[in-house]
Amino acid sequence: MAKKKLQGEVFYPPKEVIENAHIKDWDKLNKQANTDYAKFWSDRAEELHWFKKWDRVIDDRKKPFYKWFTGAKTNISYNCLDVHVQTHRRNKIALVWEGENGDFEAMSYFRLHRETCKFANILKSMGVEKGDRVTIYMGRIPEIMIAMLACARIGAIHSVVYGGFSVEALHERIEDSKSKVLIVADGAYQRGKIVPLKQIADEALQRAGGIEHVIVVKRTGQEINMEFGRDMWYHELRELPIASNQCALEKMDSEDPLFILYTSGTTGKPKAILHTHGGYMVGTYTTLKYVFDIQEQDRYWCAADPGWITGHSYIVYGPLLNGATSFMYEGAPNYPYPNRWWKMIENYGINILYTAPTAIRGLMRFGEAWVKRHDLSSLRLLGSVGEPINPEAWKWYHSVVGNGNCPIMDTWWQTETGMFMITPMPCVPLKPGSGTKPFPGIEMDVVDEKGKPVKPNEEGYLVIKTPWPAMIRTIYGDDERYVTQYWRKYKGMYMTGDSARKDKDGYFWVIGRVDDVIKVSGYRLGTAEIESALVSHSAVAEAAAIGVPHEVKGNAIYAYVILRAGLTGNSTLVEELRQHVAHEVGPIAKPEQIEFVDSLPKTRSGKIMRRVLKAKAMGEDPGNLSTLED
Ligand code: PRX
Repeated sequence: MAKKKLQGEVFYPPKEVIENAHIKDWDKLNKQANTDYAKFWSDRAEELHWFKKWDRVIDDRKKPFYKWFTGAKTNISYNCLDVHVQTHRRNKIALVWEGENGDFEAMSYFRLHRETCKFANILKSMGVEKGDRVTIYMGRIPEIMIAMLACARIGAIHSVVYGGFSVEALHERIEDSKSKVLIVADGAYQRGKIVPLKQIADEALQRAGGIEHVIVVKRTGQEINMEFGRDMWYHELRELPIASNQCALEKMDSEDPLFILYTSGTTGKPKAILHTHGGYMVGTYTTLKYVFDIQEQDRYWCAADPGWITGHSYIVYGPLLNGATSFMYEGAPNYPYPNRWWKMIENYGINILYTAPTAIRGLMRFGEAWVKRHDLSSLRLLGSVGEPINPEAWKWYHSVVGNGNCPIMDTWWQTETGMFMITPMPCVPLKPGSGTKPFPGIEMDVVDEKGKPVKPNEEGYLVIKTPWPAMIRTIYGDDERYVTQYWRKYKGMYMTGDSARKDKDGYFWVIGRVDDVIKVSGYRLGTAEIESALVSHSAVAEAAAIGVPHEVKGNAIYAYVILRAGLTGNSTLVEELRQHVAHEVGPIAKPEQIEFVDSLPKTRSGKIMRRVLKAKAMGEDPGNLSTLED
């Protein structure tokens, strides 16, 4: 891209990075894509395998229920594996894995294909058919990838529940998805301890009905309960004749469901975001290729968890569609020492590192000496996702980790978008804290209450104006909620739930959520989930949760609790309530602080005024209180 005079602090990409990149001229690509985005996406789709080509690239006859590549037949698992097994990539390493305890695996495309077929056959033998839901609850181990690909191969819809979630969160997701089969690991290593995943699952299953079979993957090897007739060891199943190396796949309609993934929304229960085979495949394949510039010889590491959308799109599907070599690490970044990540980057010669601001800030605290012990010269590109990255962390990442040579791809997107939406490419000049501009072919804007674009640098609501291939299709089982949640506020525009600014150069600066979602360490949590966990404790009458700024986590949870009549709060109860939330939702949802109060500020219609609570927590002026009931 030609050097233009841009406002503010700008970092121009090194020449060597641009020279070899897939995309050297962003403006040109953007112009092409914006002239005819249907053609842009269908050209990209041509690079993938389809059993039958599409009749239409995009079908918008029933907005906002957009459809992509209608009439086409494909299978994402086939494109991730079978396609490569038929080429020079047959023996290429698809996945390098390191366990927190030092265990190691390297899996070729050939082997990953074989293991996927075996797993798919096991699922079939349990009666899993196209359209059935399968819940997956594991840590960061290769089997999570295999299980997802196996579901996709036979057309089952996977519902991965993040291994950091706990009993009630898992129960709710199993029940809502009506899964027949649960795939779980016995445990996961995290900071030298074992997270007892199977034990948590047992407790969740006591609350949830519907699960007929549980497949248990042995990871940690501690004693666990195996329920006769329901629970079976994966390592035993895979030795049976039914688990053969070949498994016929389902030829899926482009619009057939691929997975659901629960995420927190404005109110009530988590929503099951639905993604489909065709469009999601084209979106994740293209964005990863262009943004992280995947080259044949690269070793790419997305340090997210497969249990979140980042892992679905950019650990599992995106890299495999590109025939890339991915690295996966099981444990904590600073275990046993704060150089763990840097050591692995050196050992495995990682070229691309994609992580979250919270991880960067966390590692930054230990000082640069830990980084400088290691040779990180293999790195070419860095990435950030999950929350706004503060310029200080951006610069540390850029200069200390990237040695000043690695452009940072700050990618803004959501579970719902399935793929990067606002993102640079390696050839784009960067401004610390901005994700730059929308991906070519996508129009986004910042608007006011009425949906009118605001002036440059003014804050407003972030919206998406064009459909994109990996877009959410619906909230599984709740079309109405899909429409109200995302499309009702502004006609013809998708509401992201974020606030943002756009500067004079057209660069977007995302500020944060404007709804009742709290981003804690980049994890998306709903105030409703935390509050209902608190209220499920016998001492609690009412609760309200808010997010307050936190140096490392971005936001920390602060909870206000009204106790039942006759009870008084003390520090023991505070700790008990924190543990209770960790047990029900997960350790990530544990409130940083809990304060006991006699009443909560509410509007006349009974809605909690979180703004007032936030001001109180931060010792600020609550502002206009005219709508306050009490
Ligand atoms: O608020 C935005 C924030 O994360 C939200 C989406 O969360 P989730 O669905 O869990 O997906 C996270 C990973 C894709 C967004 O609404 N967010 C995500 N990426 C960024 C971000 N905020 C600022 N900058 C980003 N790069």
